[in-house]
Order: sequence, then C-alpha cells, then structure tokens
Amino acid sequence: MPTIIDGKKISSDIRDEIKLQVEALKNEGKRAPHLAIIIVGDDGASHTYVGGKITACKAVGFDYTLMQFAGTISEDKLLKHVDQLNADTDIDGFIVQLPLPAHISVEKITMSISPEKDVDGFTNENFGSITSKVPLLMPATPLGVMELIKRYEIETEGKNCVIVGASRLVGAPLALMMSNEANATVTLCHKYTKDLASHTREADILVVAVGKPGLVTKNMVKEGAVVIDVGTTRIEDPSKKSGFRLSGDVDYEEVAPLTSHITPVPGGVGPMTIASLMINTLQAAKNNLK
Ligand code: GUN
Repeated sequence: MPTIIDGKKISSDIRDEIKLQVEALKNEGKRAPHLAIIIVGDDGASHTYVGGKITACKAVGFDYTLMQFAGTISEDKLLKHVDQLNADTDIDGFIVQLPLPAHISVEKITMSISPEKDVDGFTNENFGSITSKVPLLMPATPLGVMELIKRYEIETEGKNCVIVGASRLVGAPLALMMSNEANATVTLCHKYTKDLASHTREADILVVAVGKPGLVTKNMVKEGAVVIDVGTTRIEDPSKKSGFRLSGDVDYEEVAPLTSHITPVPGGVGPMTIASLMINTLQAAKNNLK
C-alpha cells in the first residue's frame, strides 16, 4: 500500500512552527508579520483561495490587509496600489491573487511587485535566485512540493524526476529546485513533448502540474514511483454542497496502488501553497524588521 502524503497535516505542522516564531518575534519587541492580499473581481474560486489565506494568517498570528477591487479597475490604478504597497514599510509582503481580468497584464502587475515583498515568488529576481547560494523568496507552490518531499524523507539524489507541465509558476521553478537543491536528474515535459508516457514511465519521482483531470493513467507510471499531483481542476458535482469537487491530473484510483508515495487531491499539494505563503511572509518580515 502506498504512503498517502498528507499535505493537510504537514501544512498544519508548518503553521504551528510559524506561530511559535511569530511569538518569538513579539517577545523580541517586534510587531507581527503583515501580509496584504489584492483580489480583483468576483471569481468564486479566487475568493475561496483568498479566504484560506486569511484563515492561515489568523492561525499563525500574522496581521493581514485584504484589498478588494471591482473587475473593472484599470491596469494603471492597480499598478498604483501595487506601488503603494511596495512603499509601505508596515507591509512585509503582498500578493495579487490570480487570475486577473483580461484587460490587465499579469506580467506587468507581478513584475512591478518589489522582489523583497513578492511572497508568491513570482518575480524574475526571486525565480532567478533559486539557483543562487543566497536564495530569496521561493515560488510558493514548488516550495510546498519541496517541503513535502523533505518532510516525507523521499530520496532525491540521483533519482529521475519527471515533471509534466513547464509553467512559470510551478513546473519551471520546480525543475530548477529539484536539480539544484535536491540533486535529482530532471526531465521537464510540456505540451510539445512527444510520447509523454515514455518519459513518465522512467520517473522515480513524477510531478504533474497541468490541470487536465485523468491525464496520468497507470500505464504511465513505474512501479514504486513517488507521484505528486499539483493539478486542481474544479468539476461540477451537484451531489456536493459546494456544487463542485476538485480533481487532480492523476487517475488516483488506478495509479495509487502502483506507487510508493502519492499525494491525494484535495489534501496533498493544495494546502502547501498556503503554508509556503506563510513561510515566505515570515521570511520577508524577518528581513524587513531587522
Ligand atoms: N491563483 C491560483 N494560485 C495562486 C497563487 O499561488 N498565488 C496567486 N497570487 N494567485 C493564485
């Protein structure tokens, strides 16, 4: 039977650790870390995610500021708010929740965030620092995957790690982390990859971050592999109170019995993104409050 990687438990452990560190900061006479969150428009999933981030702030003792704007806000106005947060020394870190409305450039907005306040780890400076001896703030979702791998003591050195999905937010930075920090041999697959299964079958550690439910089936996975599913797609389901369920990219029922370790969806990587946001905000605060 595989070990089910429990992201809920690990993220709860991380919250407990951060809470202690917030108390230690306060004992030194410093204020609590302060996270600001910008959300634009009324996308239901985004509001749910932001709700989770606020709950986490409360749990660890961070201060937080929620800034909500109508979906009609102009790019210029939003940039001004970003600049204000960049300049506000009472704010240690902030995020702009994605997606943004089509008339606003995600690239422009995220690249205007000061790297030292970029607790999502989206900016080029933070991305680039993954391979530096002095890493800055790490991209949050890949950092969460690395925490799961470390805390489950999964061997990575010299292992074949195959990542499916080369996005800027997950696959590409994770490939650098797995190679640089974890000494794995990394294959980064994407939509142009020919014969995907021939690559995934070689994986000792298979990470899938595409957003296509059912993409990975049992014929694509080597016996004893570690499988980490970053996909979270909402699927309408009238039998659920919320009206939907979350689905990963891996066909869990048929793949799980083959694996040594596997992340469920929900409850695997999902909660770790918020844990990483808390880790980064604490780090940004420590740097800011020096
Ligand atoms: N939308 C979905 N995931 C994320 C995330 O990690 N950060 C931000 N800012 N927006 C998101």
